[in-house]
This record gives sequence, C-alpha cells and structure tokens, in this order.
Amino acid sequence: MGNMSSALTVADLKKLARRRVPKMFFDYADSGALTEQTYRANQSDFEQILFRQKIARPLSNRSLKTTMIGEEVSMPLALAPTGMAGLQHADGEMLAAKAAEKFGVPFVLSTMSICSIEDVKSVTKKPFWMQLYVLRDKDFVKNLLDRAKNAGCSALVLTMDLQILAQRHKDLRNGLSAPPKFTPKHVWQMATRPFWCWNLLKTPRRTFGNIVGHAKGVGDLSSLGSWTAEQFDPELSWDDVAWIKDYWGGKLIIKGILDPEDAKMAVETGADALIVSNHGGRQLDGAPSSIRVLPEIVEAVGKNIEIHMDGGITSGQDVLKATMLGAKGTYIGRPFLYGLGAGGEAGVRRCLEIIRAELDVSMALCGERTIENVGPHNIYSNNLL
Ligand code: GLV
Repeated sequence: MGNMSSALTVADLKKLARRRVPKMFFDYADSGALTEQTYRANQSDFEQILFRQKIARPLSNRSLKTTMIGEEVSMPLALAPTGMAGLQHADGEMLAAKAAEKFGVPFVLSTMSICSIEDVKSVTKKPFWMQLYVLRDKDFVKNLLDRAKNAGCSALVLTMDLQILAQRHKDLRNGLSAPPKFTPKHVWQMATRPFWCWNLLKTPRRTFGNIVGHAKGVGDLSSLGSWTAEQFDPELSWDDVAWIKDYWGGKLIIKGILDPEDAKMAVETGADALIVSNHGGRQLDGAPSSIRVLPEIVEAVGKNIEIHMDGGITSGQDVLKATMLGAKGTYIGRPFLYGLGAGGEAGVRRCLEIIRAELDVSMALCGERTIENVGPHNIYSNNLL
C-alpha cells in the first residue's frame, strides 16, 4: 500500500486517498452541506487563533497524556464516528480501531459503519466507544445498545443533530445513496481504483454490518434503503435522551451542541461530556465553526460538564488550539478517513503520528510541557473570540 512516511501532512494523505478511493466514496467524506460554508469555516477559523510563543522554558520530559471521560488517552484526540468508513478501504472500521488502540486514543464506531460492533470487538482488546443516532425503530436501538454492552463498549456517543438529513450536493451529483445503488458511472469509478476493488472483493464486509440482519425487516440491501429513510426522527426530544441514558446505563457523550442553552440541557441530562459540533459542516450550512463557539460553551457550562469538540481539526496545532480554549478532547473524522483511503491501517497510523508530532512541537514552542498546563494564556485574544 505504498510508503506512508512520504505523507508529511493530513493534506498529503488526502491527495493519496483521492487517487485510491472511488470518487463517490471519497466525495462522501469530503463534503459539507449546501454551499459548504460551515465546512470551510471549521478549518479556516483555526487560522484566526494565534499562539503566544515563549522562549527559554524547560522543555524536556514533555507529555501529551490526559484523560477523556476519565479514560487515559495518549493525546486529547479520538477518531470520530463516520459513516461507511469500510468503503474508504476494505474493513476500514476494523483497521482504524486497531490503529487507534495502538496509539492509545479512543475509536468511536458509527451506527452506519460497514464493519459491525462484533467485527471491531474481534480485532481490539481495549473497549471502544459506540455512536448512536436516535432512530425511530426503538427495538433496533435497544438491540444495538445491548450489542454494544456485550462488546464492552465503554461510552455511548449520542448524535443529536441529525433529525433530518441535510443536502450534500456532491452526493446527489454522484448518485450516492445509502445503500449505494450501482450504476455504470459507479462501476467506472470503481474500475479505475483496482487496489480498492481487490481489497473489497477479499472481504465479506460490504454492507451496513450493524443493521442488515439486525433491524426488523432488513435482510438485504434493497430493504435497507427504505428502512434508513424512515429512521431519522423529526420528533426527537430531550426525553429520548433520558430513556436512552437509562437503558444504556454507562458513560454518555452528547454530540451536536453549538448553543449555550442546548449545552445547559445536555448538562441536565447528566451526560458525562458534550461535543461542540456542527457535524463537520455536513448539516446546518451557515452555522458557525465549532472552534468559534467553543469558548461560549465553555463559559456557559465548562464547570458542570466535560467539553469536547470536533470540526475542522486537520493538524496538531488545531488540537492544541481547541485544548487551549477549553476542550478536554477533540475528534478527527475526515483526516483519519483520508489515512484509511491512502493506506489502510498504516495510513491511519500515519495520520495519528503526524498530528501527534505537530501537537508536541507546537506545545513545546508555546513553552508548555503538559496538556494539563495549556490554556487561554497561550493564545492571543483576537477577533474570533
Ligand atoms: C452521517 O452522519 C453523515 O454525516 O453522512
């Protein structure tokens, strides 16, 4: 799968992935809703935040270790739940989970993954985290939670900002649907990516492993399409969180918070953490970047709940900036998918290595030795904040 060490940045991994992954799946990862304004702002707003350089400070014995929801992590970063990672590369979720485990960072498995909960369990030793959409089929939700408990998952990430799916133009233009319906255009896109095809032919995992065979009436790909379309719940409310929390009984993380009042509601539920997130700019186009609203959420509820963030993180500097602004943990979605597309497990490892090295050097040049010591004092206040 090529030598991943030639990739020096996440952007390099993205270039490699573009060459190796069929266009419709690459585009699925690389898309935001509508004009993609929020998708772009997630990244570009990070550039508005400037580090305060410090010199002549003791910099040996540095450590990036910290905790997220009480679990030790080697750096304040986790792999975000992303749909269909197993179509960026065969067995994608299993490979990414293995890379995350080796690195000592959490892996979050999406409900809409290709590899199932049990598949990921079979290749990992440490507990991973499970993501759930609040779906209408309550029997399915309970079954999924039972399976996650059986697999020893140590946290549930509940996605709250997908009551209705926003339009992503690239997916429509590519004719990408869940599940994919293959047209001659798709066959051509796949035929021009022979390594990808070869790997996918070798694995039995080519459909939604958490759903097919588990949800009532979903035995095959065609019934899956209509089931998924009906599942998102326009009536979703905070009461749903209460029963899910109750049924799950373990650690809970609420994802999709951008507003301080919603953050207070999340605190009320008794969740262990919330994730400041606009779904990678894939839902409400025109919403602010996650990094822009992070400080006001920290201000509103930072004393009452652990705050995480995702959206736009493509480097160690970004992880550091979010940490300085009060995030106890951050998540990457697209960057690890690009690593996966570029080179499977080795590509995800390379992605994590790149981010870790950038984080370490940037922290040091700010004059800090530990993640616990960084804070707002390390950045200039500016027009973003
Ligand atoms: C699903 O959550 C997606 O963003 O595609």
